[in-house]
Amino acid sequence: MGKQLYLFGAQNVVIIAMVAIVAMADDNNNVFQPCEDAKIQKSDGFTFGIAFSLRPSFFVNDTTQLSPCDRRLSLSTSNAQLAIFRPKVDQISLLTINTTTFTPEAFGGYMVAFAGQRYAARSTPTFVANSTFIVTSFTLVLEFEKGTLQNLYWKRDGCASCKRNPNFTCLNSQDCAINQSSCMGHGGSVDCSLGIQTAFSGTDKHQVVLNSWYEVDKLRQYSLYGLYSNLRDSLTSQFNIF
Ligand SMILES: *[C@@H]1O[C@H](CO)[C@@H](O)[C@H](O)[C@H]1NC(C)=O
Ligand SMILES: *[C@@H]1O[C@H](CO)[C@@H](O)[C@H](O)[C@H]1NC(C)=O
Ligand SMILES: *[C@@H]1O[C@H](CO)[C@@H](O)[C@H](O)[C@H]1NC(C)=O
Ligand SMILES: *[C@@H]1O[C@H](CO)[C@@H](O)[C@H](O)[C@H]1NC(C)=O
Ligand SMILES: *[C@@H]1O[C@H](CO)[C@@H](O)[C@H](O)[C@H]1NC(C)=O
Repeated sequence: MGKQLYLFGAQNVVIIAMVAIVAMADDNNNVFQPCEDAKIQKSDGFTFGIAFSLRPSFFVNDTTQLSPCDRRLSLSTSNAQLAIFRPKVDQISLLTINTTTFTPEAFGGYMVAFAGQRYAARSTPTFVANSTFIVTSFTLVLEFEKGTLQNLYWKRDGCASCKRNPNFTCLNSQDCAINQSSCMGHGGSVDCSLGIQTAFSGTDKHQVVLNSWYEVDKLRQYSLYGLYSNLRDSLTSQFNIF
């Protein structure tokens, strides 16, 4: 990390996870901060952030959702936490946040993925956890146009992946949730760490088409869910299919 991070207009935000933030081979994107604008090509890394807080903390005047990079949001004075990731463009990556040391329900229980300044893109806030339930499996699509991030969205499957599994509860017909009492740290044995599968769509700065989202969509039956038993084991075994 060459530069200091200035996020949410303050420095008192605790960073809970920072994955592969250094440049990899073939990575020519020199923007490492999530709140700066990057123009990417295939083989670059791309830095984005995920902020955890209460749902209303992501809005001003109750109606306008702003990027967590926007100083008009007072996330720095809210109960917020931040994770920063740098997946490789057009690869399917699995990002994890270990909930042994970080309990999302203690920080509002919602998360927003974001990147960019002038081209500030942010996802909608998505439910992660409260004291009863935790959703552990997410798919995030990063959509680019000519190398500039346009949109981040959570892809859902309407609970198709957990419908017949009694260990999950389908919340709002969209999220597969685990009863918190099944989780380690809450009396249970399941590793309820968060797994966020990222995929890319759109075009890079040379107008090359990014295909990894198409692959996830096509292979949806193998995408991550069913995070019972040890998360890491179940995820790697599912991901070996790629
Ligand atoms: C929020 O409301 C105040 C007062 O009506 C207004 O001045 C401000 O521009 C609004 N902010 C946004 C981001 O809409
Ligand atoms: C989370 O941390 C705990 C304790 O260090 C460890 O046992 C567990 O395997 C980790 N989970 C993941 C998904 O890395
Ligand atoms: C947790 O969220 C679920 C789904 O929105 C809701 O049904 C449940 O009542 C919530 N539990 C608490 C303690 O807020
Ligand atoms: C539900 O959880 C129990 C206890 O962890 C496990 O033994 C069982 O195999 C799970 N059922 C399914 C369908 O995954
Ligand atoms: C969660 O599990 C506990 C203990 O197994 C059970 O009493 C409770 O009814 C479950 N809650 C939900 C919402 O499934």
